[in-house]
Amino acid sequence: MEINQVGVVGCGLMGSGIAEVCARAGYRVVVCEVNTEFLEKGLNRIRKSLSKAVARGKSTQEQADQALAQIQGTVNLSDLADCDLVVEAAIENMDLKKDIFAQLDSILPPHAILASNTSSLCITEMASVTQRGDKVLGIHFFNPVPVMPLIEFVRTILTSDETMDIAWQFGASLGKTMVVAKDTPGFIVNRLLIPYLLDAVRVYEDGLASREDIDTAIKLGLNHPMGPLTLLDFVGLDTCLFIADAMFDEYKDPRYAAPPLLRRMVLAGQLGRKSGQGFYDYS
Ligand code: 3HC
Repeated sequence: MEINQVGVVGCGLMGSGIAEVCARAGYRVVVCEVNTEFLEKGLNRIRKSLSKAVARGKSTQEQADQALAQIQGTVNLSDLADCDLVVEAAIENMDLKKDIFAQLDSILPPHAILASNTSSLCITEMASVTQRGDKVLGIHFFNPVPVMPLIEFVRTILTSDETMDIAWQFGASLGKTMVVAKDTPGFIVNRLLIPYLLDAVRVYEDGLASREDIDTAIKLGLNHPMGPLTLLDFVGLDTCLFIADAMFDEYKDPRYAAPPLLRRMVLAGQLGRKSGQGFYDYS
């Protein structure tokens, strides 16, 4: 099966990045948002990122223009009817995702593959509302999508070899490196990342060191591009809390229990970069 047209559901931080890398790889892309305001915001993010790619010498202006021309925005899920593969990157809410999967199952042609970019929710549960469990998998990208070279593929007990082969070719065509994980909360990266981030909040809460020193220690002592508190702000504290809660729910392991400070910061609206305030001030 050849993939010509890719659908992306959600044009937020991840969805816009996914749409961009697919278009840059030459696919026709239809990206769907819930309303025109969110859609325009997402398309603007793509335009900005493409300009940055040109400024950084990663792409020519002509290639960036071509990529942009490959992307069609819509607010109607039914406009994804001709897609060969759809990546759902909506907000992390299982009921919403199941609703999207059920709708797409009746809209898409029988050969189409249905993927979720979820970072922690159960792919098998999403597959359960479709009649094409063998064609459902997780395709988990990393933020910022145009820059991060990894894709985690999440294979459920229903996903067929053929679907994995097609997804593998698709990932390679985007220039990414792929790994495969079982359908368990956190997959590989977040299973290891989340306890580390939660521990960083715990040691900060305990007063071990200042936020700057915690970040500097990890950045320079381990050569990480960002310290853990900066990374929490970058990913979004609400996203990290959501993943931690989903993992704790499944494993009941105290390593995944969110520290009180993280929950309180989210309740206070301090979500990191996106809200202007997290462990650091971005206003
Ligand atoms: N398109 C293509 N390339 C781009 C680009 C774009 N729009 N924007 C930047 N780049 C390239 C730059 O040219 C540069 O390439 P080079 O190294 O070859 O020169 C590289 O990307 C880095 O760009 P910048 O110089 O602008 O940025 P920094 O050097 O400050 O790095 C960062 C920014 C990439 C975000 C870096 O700080 C980093 O890697 N941080 C960690 C990010 C991370 O861990 N992400 C994963 C989060 S977890 C996740 O997503 C999972 C989820 O489930 C929670």
